[in-house]
Amino acid sequence: MRSFLIAGNWKMNASPSEGVEKARIIQQKLSGKNLHNTLLICPSFITIPAVQGELHHASVKVGAQNVSEQEDGAYTGEVSTGMLKDAGCKYVITGHSERREYYHETSELIARKTKKVLESGLKPILCVGEKLESRKAGDQEKIVADQLKPVFDTIPSHLARNMVIAYEPVWAIGTGETATPEQAQEMHASIRKMISDSWGDEIATSIQILYGGSMKPANAEELLSQPDVDGGLIGGASLQPESFLEILEIAESLV
Ligand code: PGA
Repeated sequence: MRSFLIAGNWKMNASPSEGVEKARIIQQKLSGKNLHNTLLICPSFITIPAVQGELHHASVKVGAQNVSEQEDGAYTGEVSTGMLKDAGCKYVITGHSERREYYHETSELIARKTKKVLESGLKPILCVGEKLESRKAGDQEKIVADQLKPVFDTIPSHLARNMVIAYEPVWAIGTGETATPEQAQEMHASIRKMISDSWGDEIATSIQILYGGSMKPANAEELLSQPDVDGGLIGGASLQPESFLEILEIAESLV
């Protein structure tokens, strides 16, 4: 049966006390409810334990927004997969466009981080997506293929089945502009084909491909209704528990 992953990326928002407030509302609203889908919250590192402490629902998980590719040791300022696991995380976002753009993370580094996450038993949500100029030039598939190549080269298929991929066109992130359902479906289908070519059909069918970029209650239904859209990676609209839960409700109505 199909199931969606509805993931919130809080970015550098929500201090520990603010995170507790949001998590309490989510816990309260979902308490006692059976969910078909998974709800995921990715707070900043420092807010993870506070949020984790408030959530007691089998279908609600906590994840991180970034991780070190190193195991442990003298890497000042970094956080390891082992630490995230110990804090109760189940997922880690890798390769978000803001990390690629502002922190100069290359696709090769991102592939190494993604592999590290998989080896640790956590699930990576690997983000890919083109900028506006590439979309205008019709190069979106080539850009995403280039971003995925080191991942296909680095990660063996037995690890790959635990991956999640998020297609996030950079021009749609935080801009209020969303890919049309047709644009999203086209890219998701093309990413699934790339996965199939590298890791085979079975893995391509089972990997969840999320859409990210100004997803909100008003557009979630048409996006999630696309056959190759398996959930959302949601920034702005995940900061308000009400709108985040509204998107979850829409996903619940579709399975
Ligand atoms: P947005 O962010 O929903 O605010 O566009 C999505 C993301 O960056 O993951």
